Amino acid sequence: MNFLPLIEAKREGKTLTAEQTREYVHEFTAGEIPDYQMSAMLMAIYFRGLNTEETTALTLAMRDSGDVLKFPADSRPIVDKHSTGGIGDKVSLPLAPLLACLGFRVPMISGRGLGITGGTLDKLDSIPGFQTLLPAPKIIQLVQRVGCVICGQTQKMVPADRKTYALRDATGTVPSIPLITASILSKKLAESLNALILDVKFGTAAFMPTQADARKLARAMVTLGHQCGTNTRAVLTDMNAPLGRSAGNWLEVTESVACLDGQGPEDLRELVIESAAHLLLQTGKSKSITAARKQAADCLESGAPRKKWDEMIVAQGADLPVFNRKLKLDSTAQVTAEVLSQKNGFISKCDARIIGEVIRDLGGGRFTKESRINHDVGVDRIAKPGERMKKSGALCRVHAVDLNQATKAGEQLKSAFEISAQRPAKSPLVVRVVSA
Ligand code: URA
Repeated sequence: MNFLPLIEAKREGKTLTAEQTREYVHEFTAGEIPDYQMSAMLMAIYFRGLNTEETTALTLAMRDSGDVLKFPADSRPIVDKHSTGGIGDKVSLPLAPLLACLGFRVPMISGRGLGITGGTLDKLDSIPGFQTLLPAPKIIQLVQRVGCVICGQTQKMVPADRKTYALRDATGTVPSIPLITASILSKKLAESLNALILDVKFGTAAFMPTQADARKLARAMVTLGHQCGTNTRAVLTDMNAPLGRSAGNWLEVTESVACLDGQGPEDLRELVIESAAHLLLQTGKSKSITAARKQAADCLESGAPRKKWDEMIVAQGADLPVFNRKLKLDSTAQVTAEVLSQKNGFISKCDARIIGEVIRDLGGGRFTKESRINHDVGVDRIAKPGERMKKSGALCRVHAVDLNQATKAGEQLKSAFEISAQRPAKSPLVVRVVSA
């Protein structure tokens, strides 16, 4: 096709038809449109935006650029959750087995971390033997048999997004709401979902720093999800402080198992239950949000999702006895060190961004897509806003590769915490629900 007139039309702010969008996405995926022309189109979209119909056409064209999972007919609805990413955000790990126990099928296709936000697949890689790369027929087989799977996107799924995202990354066109919406939803829609819950985060460590921006993104994704035939909702959640008390790959797996054992931190449990409750409501399995929360909480407390977790990780290759031995260790890193408070008072701030940066610098996150990561480093026992703190009490604990690294990280971590004389007002974790 002659792509230049379409770039020029978009540059002038004109609307492209669904047919034109389908054609250029198809040709770009097939290698028939050069990267420099696609970059120009992305820049035109970045500045001119896309209307809802154009965003829908782009999303569907990207979804259809590769394999779309096809599940056999079954009474269990197919659902998933997507989070825009944060520090200590491990919700997917306990949520997948909980949803399977609530009678859903969960093909949870997840990603790796880049920069300060952790990736679900990196966390799972710390489980001995666990396989995150599964071919599409295996994903379908495990979802049908176990009820849930957490794995990476196959090479054949949504290749248009993989190619486009690499160009957006290199041309500064990532922060565009229609492009983010199409990128996220094309991948989720390739799972053939009946319902999707989105966790759109705002705050110091979030992709969207302000609540207003997070709301705009949530609204765009919810509208588009519905237009594409998937019942979609979003919760807006606070990412100024980390979620839970642990951040770092293996440390987050241990905290997720604690959550399934009924011993996890309250905020993590709240978000797991909240995500499950909305999906129960969206799929008509529950009549009210109050009843749905109770249904999800009762199921979590029954212990069944903890057993389902074991079943899921074994189905994906984990060595359960080795995993269980590893769970008993206090730390898998070479060195641990507590970071101590210099005064009495109440924690008034625990900056997730600083904690995320420290973990990335310890080796727990990636500077580039090629970086190798260390699964054992991280920060746990994190004191959270509102908690009383004594002078010389522990603000958090660092897991590092040596004492020098632990000392340097400890100094940086001190700046993540602020202590006030008065207990700060409690801010809610879930500030808003965006539904159609
Ligand atoms: N995550 C995605 O998958 N795509 C984006 O564009 C941004 C975040």
